[in-house]
Amino acid sequence: MKEIRIAIIGTGMISHRHMTVIQNLKKRGQNLTVVAACDIVPDRVKAFGARYGIAEENLYTDFREMLKRDDIDEVEVCVHNNLHTSVSCAVMAAGYPCYSEKPMSASYADAKILYDAQKDYGQKLAVQISSIYNPQTRIAKRMVENGELGEVYHARSVGHRLQGRPGYDMPFFSRDFIDPNIGVHGPLFDLGIYHLAQMLYVLGMPELESVYGTQSSKYWTHETIDKEVSRTAPIEDLGVGLARFKGGLSMDIYEDWAMHMDEIGTSFIAGSNGGLKLIDVDSTGGPMAVPEGGQIIGGGSVQVPRLEWFGTNEHGEMFVTKIDCGINDLTGQQELRLHPEMAMYNDNQLQWYSYLRGDLTDETRIDSPFIACQTALLSDGVVLSDELGRSVTADEIKALSKSIALREQVLPNGDKIHYDFKEYKA
Ligand SMILES: NC(=O)c1ccc[n+]([C@@H]2O[C@H](COP(=O)([O-])OP(=O)(O)OC[C@H]3O[C@@H](n4cnc5c(N)ncnc54)[C@H](O)[C@@H]3O)[C@@H](O)[C@H]2O)c1
Repeated sequence: MKEIRIAIIGTGMISHRHMTVIQNLKKRGQNLTVVAACDIVPDRVKAFGARYGIAEENLYTDFREMLKRDDIDEVEVCVHNNLHTSVSCAVMAAGYPCYSEKPMSASYADAKILYDAQKDYGQKLAVQISSIYNPQTRIAKRMVENGELGEVYHARSVGHRLQGRPGYDMPFFSRDFIDPNIGVHGPLFDLGIYHLAQMLYVLGMPELESVYGTQSSKYWTHETIDKEVSRTAPIEDLGVGLARFKGGLSMDIYEDWAMHMDEIGTSFIAGSNGGLKLIDVDSTGGPMAVPEGGQIIGGGSVQVPRLEWFGTNEHGEMFVTKIDCGINDLTGQQELRLHPEMAMYNDNQLQWYSYLRGDLTDETRIDSPFIACQTALLSDGVVLSDELGRSVTADEIKALSKSIALREQVLPNGDKIHYDFKEYKA
């Protein structure tokens, strides 16, 4: 098997998940080598090198220097939201395929710039969206395609945490999540991406017509909860919306980081002949992201995504079927027995490496950049609708969306990086 030589940009929290997946895939015969890594915080990249056995001469604090090497096959971008377009475009412009963390960007305009960069620079691109790489998503998608739910007329995309603001309630997460210039947006762009992208993909990528939405940061402003953050301009802790797609399909959207509420239900799809509940949607990277005998990066465990199917049979009797989406160590045991190649669809990174090697093509891989870009259109629609106080059409979102990705970044030592990516064209 051809070796893939990997370089990592950003050695913070999520880079360790990339490394765990790489280590787990290597144990299963994948020929992967991390040849270099970079972080603007010298101690962080040093610690990363020490932990994973990467020699000091292969560690960098300026990724532009790292990209001058001649032994890199692909680059994994693990910096924060508002740097995804900036850094990933620089990677592709330097001549490398690029695997970027989610969300694709903090605005539709930036997602589109990054999407177009594939063509602009003739490079392969993937965006991390773990929720679409598992049997739960595939089974749901097939059921919708096969008409098992009848005519689908409504969907709900949901994510809820009782108290889970990253960097605050969950202090082991970087504070960049809640920095208005770096994380930029709240739950709708953070965990919401997993739920929205999964729903759009399962529904066959319906074309957005319009969306009405609001966001709130009221949870922050409660004095007893957070005096410090409430004095700054907190980013959102709640995003809600109602979208309408061509053909009349609707979807309501709910995503919070914290709310005084125990349960708000699950994502679901409603059809004329059946309903499907999507339970425990994967937003933690799948089983490959779990270190042997250890816990998922960031705590918690990978839950088993499940489906519940509510239908009416030919006799008019209602039934409920619980669909176990079959997790074993590669997920999807039954699918794997039937088609061993299904493993390539069970993990973000494995799919990316398979695509790089040519085992998957543009036709056979899941087109994560397209799905992520369409997801950005929807989430940016909620932001614009909230700003304007009215619903917005897809054409308006495209016309009004602004590129906000960082064009200049000040480093801890005071130096600056200038990012030279293309302008957004609506
Ligand atoms: N933490 C998670 O559990 C998690 C899960 C899924 C996805 N993500 C996504 O991954 C991204 C990063 O999140 P994180 O939690 O790892 O954040 P983090 O702050 O822990 O890591 C980001 C790292 O990037 C470094 N960095 C910033 N600019 C850089 C540059 N120009 N060159 C090199 N390094 C640079 C920072 O110094 C930092 O170490 C976010 O977009 C987030 O949405 C995070």
